[in-house]
Amino acid sequence: MFIGPSTLVICVDITCVERYGPRVNHIHSDVCFTARYDRPTGLGRVEGPAGNLNWSTGCSRQYKCEQAMSDDHEIEGEMLEPSIVAGRFEGRTVVVTGAGSGIGRATAIRVLEEGGRVVATDIVQERLDQLGSDSNNDKLVTVAGDVSTSDTVDQVIGATNGSLDALANVAGIMDGFLPTAELDDATWERVMGVNVTAIMRLMRAAIPLMQRSGAGSIVSVASEAGLRGSAAGTAYTTSKHAVIGFTKSTAFFYTPTGIRCNAMAPGGVATNIEAPFRSQFAAERIAPFLQVNVPPVATPEQLTAAITWLLSDDSLNVSGTVLASDGGWVAI
Ligand SMILES: NC(=O)c1ccc[n+]([C@@H]2O[C@H](COP(=O)([O-])OP(=O)(O)OC[C@H]3O[C@@H](n4cnc5c(N)ncnc54)[C@H](O)[C@@H]3O)[C@@H](O)[C@H]2O)c1
Repeated sequence: MFIGPSTLVICVDITCVERYGPRVNHIHSDVCFTARYDRPTGLGRVEGPAGNLNWSTGCSRQYKCEQAMSDDHEIEGEMLEPSIVAGRFEGRTVVVTGAGSGIGRATAIRVLEEGGRVVATDIVQERLDQLGSDSNNDKLVTVAGDVSTSDTVDQVIGATNGSLDALANVAGIMDGFLPTAELDDATWERVMGVNVTAIMRLMRAAIPLMQRSGAGSIVSVASEAGLRGSAAGTAYTTSKHAVIGFTKSTAFFYTPTGIRCNAMAPGGVATNIEAPFRSQFAAERIAPFLQVNVPPVATPEQLTAAITWLLSDDSLNVSGTVLASDGGWVAI
């Protein structure tokens, strides 16, 4: 239903299809979206209110729609892609967690494209299989397992064959936006286990390997929720603040030994991360902040540009920092 020359209200069970380059992303939701399409500039954007599966999904301002939104909400566009730096990871081994989807998958692919050997881990075997067939690169090794367990961490470290140059801690889960008084023990323990304990165990095992060569770079994906209290539930917010604290402490201790440690804070990114609201109270409290203050979502590849920069020697004088890649949300 058009309610203005450039505003379209879409309700119930929509599929937004984003096309850019050779890739196609499908984003599903069962709640209302407001889609804005600016005919003169050709820029499109889809916004969802709090309470939907992807609270701010849609079309980044950074690509130009070639056609108006049609009734099936299909948008075709030209994506601004970060450039590959040929050979940047040649001879390097990089561990990437959460490599089966979203930001982790894009990071693994980019490191492979830039010549690195990747030990990719994810809890979903099929996603790793897909990564393997899509990348078709014999420098990829996959380890399926729950990265919050010691067993998987041991397998991942074993797959490096004793040589590790960089670690990207990307795997993470959300918390249903539960506020403190509604937070259950299971959610707290799972979120802290995947988002924090896994990172602690991997860094603890990775640092002795990096010390052998006297160099290494660790990047952990935090979140805008690691910088403020208004972007997620209490458990996720706490876990991402912990990622930043863990990063700073590790950087303090080990930067003088040649091991750099940084965090990266994404804003909204179009991935498969599950983000349903499990609290009406939280949805009503957070909605105004997410609707007004959040820049358009980014692509995983845009996040990977910052992560691989931190993983590589290009950032050789940078350690202990939190790099926001959030379209400027951090400035609001
Ligand atoms: N998407 C966003 O808007 C956004 C915003 C801020 C921060 N982040 C962070 O980015 C990181 C990557 O998320 P994404 O958006 O790419 O999500 P995603 O769900 O697309 O990818 C995460 C991957 O991690 C895997 N994973 C989950 N739990 C695991 C476990 N216990 N062991 C091993 N693998 C596991 C999943 O199977 C999945 O393949 C997360 O740490 C997330 O908190 C995402």
